[in-house]
Amino acid sequence: MSGKSTLTITDNRTGKTYEVAVDPNGTIKALDLRQIKVDAEDFGLMTYDPAFTNTASCKSAITFIDGDKGILEYRGYPIEQLAEKSSFLEVAWLLLHGELPTKSELAEFTHRVTHHTYVHENLKKLMDGFRHDAHPMGILISSVGALATFYPESKEIFDVPKRERHIMRLIAKMPTLGAMAYRHSMGFPYVFPDNELSYTGNFLSMMKKMAEPRYKVDPVLEKALDVLFILHADHEQNCSTNAMRGVGSAHTDPYSAVAGATAALYGPLHGGANEAVLRMLREIGSLANVPAFVKEVKEGKGEKRLMGFGHRVYKNYDPRATVIKKLAEQVFEVTGRNPLLDIAVELERIALEDDYFIKRKLYPNVDFYSGLIYEALGFPTDFFTVLFAIPRTAGWLAQWKELLGDADQKIARPRQIYTGATRRDYVPMDAR
Ligand code: CMC
Repeated sequence: MSGKSTLTITDNRTGKTYEVAVDPNGTIKALDLRQIKVDAEDFGLMTYDPAFTNTASCKSAITFIDGDKGILEYRGYPIEQLAEKSSFLEVAWLLLHGELPTKSELAEFTHRVTHHTYVHENLKKLMDGFRHDAHPMGILISSVGALATFYPESKEIFDVPKRERHIMRLIAKMPTLGAMAYRHSMGFPYVFPDNELSYTGNFLSMMKKMAEPRYKVDPVLEKALDVLFILHADHEQNCSTNAMRGVGSAHTDPYSAVAGATAALYGPLHGGANEAVLRMLREIGSLANVPAFVKEVKEGKGEKRLMGFGHRVYKNYDPRATVIKKLAEQVFEVTGRNPLLDIAVELERIALEDDYFIKRKLYPNVDFYSGLIYEALGFPTDFFTVLFAIPRTAGWLAQWKELLGDADQKIARPRQIYTGATRRDYVPMDAR
């Protein structure tokens, strides 16, 4: 090490040499490359990085991941400790404010979230407009976006007290919207929030309550859902968070930005994977079919994937998958064992011994086992991604807040490499 924090670049096209600063974080500023030109007319050097595989789009103090070691921390706290000792609302506060809440801060936050779970009656009419078989994620995207029209002052994103109120409202109302989407698809009446219950207890009540005067929440299942919510609360610059920041960079209100992030999460390569895992396990059907399925994936050369495996950042076991695998056992003690678990365990065993997966560092991710628990909790497969969107809202909002306070940020606007036709004259219709 020479001690000099710069990078010397020689442009072999011109023979010129440039020196650019290397940040202590090990990054160079992409704009520093713009000075590298072949002549005065040249726009200057750019990097080409589709899907941001090697580009940091922000500085963030929220979530740390070491993908090679399989480490995940929120604000420095290891995910395993938070899953064991914390609660989802405490974690939401931690993500949003940077520190664990004091007793009174948590009590006040819990009280405010609990008392903002109701949605405007007109939202029911919006829900009623969807077909009976509408996918709950489609309903969630639309209904959370619609909330912006009920709170026009949410556009005042630099008014800090107002901004905090809308953040709290979003965390409070996402479970209500999710549960309404489910009840609509089942043809069941909507259930009003119950302020006496915990965040996840109330959510279970809004999902499951039928004719009984009060829904009796099973404490093991309530806790399991809370742990799942903690595990899903944030994951640094993933696809939906990037969407949240992208939309938010235009200074859009938080409801519309969360609708955009929810839409990104819907995709099968992202939050939709938990749903895809269950469909895959059902397709495999029995332990005997596992080797043939793995063979098909390997021969498919990327066409057919082992859903719930692989991650852009983790090149080791996803630490959330470790917690979820243990949690599954606790849940199954209450609900009975999901027979698909045996297929999942066998699939994991075979894949982890197979060269194809070893070479590509493909390990189970968060979605591999979560769907099995969701199914044991009685949630339909279509609903799984909603169960990801509800807790991730806390992370999206923490990242959005950070973006708005970051002087380095501007409206997100990537460059492109134009590959289309060069200038040509319009061809009249009869000459084409
Ligand atoms: N099954 C089989 N092969 C795979 C898989 C898989 N699940 N994932 C990656 N590969 C192969 C891929 O075909 C490629 O092989 P080759 O080098 O021969 O072309 C190599 O591994 C690298 O894959 P990639 O597509 O370049 O990797 P990526 O970082 O772009 O994709 C991923 C990451 C998560 C989209 C991908 O691993 C995948 O599609 N996994 C299945 C879907 C899934 O479980 N998604 C949930 C992710 S975790 C939660 C979340 O983000 O919401």
